[in-house]
Amino acid sequence: MSKRKILVTSALPYANGSIHLGHLVEYIQTDIWVRFQRMQGHEVHYVGADDTHGTPVMLRAQSEGITPEALIERVWKEHRRDFDDFLVSFDNYHSTHSDETRVIAEEIYRRLDQGKLITQRSVEQFYDPIKQMFLPDRFIKGECPKCGAKDQYGDSCEVCGATYSPTDLKNPYSTVSGAAPVRKASEHYFFKLGDCSEFLQQWTRSGTLQLEAANKMAEWFSAGLNDWDISRDAPYFGFEIPGAPGKYFYVWLDAPIGYFGSLRNYCDKQQAAGKTLDFDAFTNADKAATEKTEMVHFIGKDILYFHALFWPAMLKNAGFRTPTNIYAHGFLTVNGEKMSKSRGTFITAESYIQQGLNPEWLRYYYAAKLNSTMEDIDLNLEDFVARVNSDLVGKYINIASRCAPFISKYFDGKILSTPDLWVSESKEIDHSSKNPVFPFVYTRLGDVNVLYENREYSKVIRDVMAFVACINAYIDVLKPWELAKTGEMKLLHQVCSVSINMFRMVAIYLKPVLPEMVANVENFLNINPLTSASAQTLLPDGHIINPYKHLATRIDPKQITALVEANKESLKPTAPQPHSQQRHAQHQENIVETTTQPATINIDDFSKIDLRVARIVNAEQVEGADKLLKLTLDIGTEQRTVFAGIKSAYDPEKLKGRLTVMVANLAPRKMKFGLSEGMVLAAGDGSGLYLLGPDEGAQPGMRIK
Ligand code: MSP
Ligand code: ZN
Repeated sequence: MSKRKILVTSALPYANGSIHLGHLVEYIQTDIWVRFQRMQGHEVHYVGADDTHGTPVMLRAQSEGITPEALIERVWKEHRRDFDDFLVSFDNYHSTHSDETRVIAEEIYRRLDQGKLITQRSVEQFYDPIKQMFLPDRFIKGECPKCGAKDQYGDSCEVCGATYSPTDLKNPYSTVSGAAPVRKASEHYFFKLGDCSEFLQQWTRSGTLQLEAANKMAEWFSAGLNDWDISRDAPYFGFEIPGAPGKYFYVWLDAPIGYFGSLRNYCDKQQAAGKTLDFDAFTNADKAATEKTEMVHFIGKDILYFHALFWPAMLKNAGFRTPTNIYAHGFLTVNGEKMSKSRGTFITAESYIQQGLNPEWLRYYYAAKLNSTMEDIDLNLEDFVARVNSDLVGKYINIASRCAPFISKYFDGKILSTPDLWVSESKEIDHSSKNPVFPFVYTRLGDVNVLYENREYSKVIRDVMAFVACINAYIDVLKPWELAKTGEMKLLHQVCSVSINMFRMVAIYLKPVLPEMVANVENFLNINPLTSASAQTLLPDGHIINPYKHLATRIDPKQITALVEANKESLKPTAPQPHSQQRHAQHQENIVETTTQPATINIDDFSKIDLRVARIVNAEQVEGADKLLKLTLDIGTEQRTVFAGIKSAYDPEKLKGRLTVMVANLAPRKMKFGLSEGMVLAAGDGSGLYLLGPDEGAQPGMRIK
């Protein structure tokens, strides 16, 4: 088998949000593949980076009162921490806001320009006259031109489902400043994607894509390829276009170039460490062909358009190599539904770890669900607990805990190796005799490598667990505990040795999924790190294993309840989540949850809100709630109970007795912890939370107007 040289990437997560369990589908899927390839002995370079540019990052930094550089640095650290926690083994993790990425982006742009693939024309767009900036579609809202529903985004109406363009909205407003946008023209740069149509049609059908992805492409081709707008006007957080002051590369132009930026950075670090890694061998068209290197991208199905059209077209025309494979996966649902903040299923990587949940449980569960298609995958939380507890711990780990103690107690930890006694072609256990022949068929697990290669992880887990069942059945038939009682020591030694050898065999096949657990298994078995080649051998005769120590724990279902609770959004209403058809449109500009500023209202609108001075007569913690405090408010005529999401900022004891402001005519809302009869007012932008209070002299119940 010749040694493959593979550059592997996962999509670069946006620097404006936290890693959540949806993202982890991708990073875990990629990492399992990468670890498998490493175990096969191939040369793999797994690189990643944060995707840092664009309007949302710029605006978020502004709202936090920090520079975009400070924001992306903070988020980079958080992302790194999350990936480390989930054992995602990047060889290098970089940022698109880097010199490496800028230099390559400029080079690619220059070559495309030389190739007459860049064109310029004036584009009229919505402009925010207060913020003095052009507005991406996601930052414009207004009334639906069809049904009149208020506060609809510029691409489609969430009430009646109509689709339209932002200019069709009635009474549009900028969600950044609240101002009515004006139309303004400016010069834009375009990449002539249409000119690459022939190449792309051939490329997408050349085996680089999954069949379903290639079919999707065919739809796009028949709709025709438009020029791609690759420039944005200042103010914008990104790279300025060479020779075009005030114009910036659109974030999606430099995002995939970030893969190369990270590789470049990695090569330089390797060189500094006295090792060589040739950047050109993985990126230059000619060199990649002679060196037979591969480039494999793992992505979500929502960003196929960018990876299977723009990216290869840019690469091809700039003299770079094109991807060997693009593997797209589906989206995560939780308990059969889209992840939701109100249901507590929009679960961040950080909160999962904070609940004390083991990251390998999730890796195991995702592996048990993942396949090579673009189908969505479901995290069913009950099934998650059941599979981990009964299959992984109850069946697999159980093999070692059933057999190892006998080896330690009676045989000084020594393994007996008599392969002829137990390697058989038979598929059945002989129940009639106490025959230690184990129905082990090498070929059965030999296929597992093919399944890994093809990303059919759910089949890997299925086959491995069938094998585990087989080992347990063998133990059940031979009953080592009875052999120990009746003194059949030779047979006892054989049965336990066979089982431990099989336990090791399974560890080889679970290692890409459960690297840490298998490291503990290696330690317990007192062996060198397992590789794919280890499957060709058994433990040598007389090999001494360590006494069995606890290798895995079970999930306590209470941890899951707490996890969902911790991710539940408190009283604060959430911005509607875009539905999946909109994910594509949304990627035209990456989304951020900015504080939406509504359009101008008149005094009648304002007077509909009954604001009152309230005295906090009691404040207490709410059991099981992460963000909430339970407040009892006196508004003169009556007392109200309000659950307020201010726990992070206030000690309840210190709130007792103070005055604040409440919305007294808000419809009561039934929450998990009880009825909330109003809302208290607080200022905050994510960096802190400040409860409002009236000046001295105000009395509970006074109206605020
Ligand atoms: N920044 C772009 C990618 C640029 S690649 C040059 C982006 N970022 S993202 O943070 O929105 O998503 C990163 C990856 O996670 C994407 O491949 C995306 O499909 C994937 N996922 C994001 N949410 C997901 C789920 N809910 N489920 C599965 N994958 C998800 O897109
Ligand atoms: Zn509508």
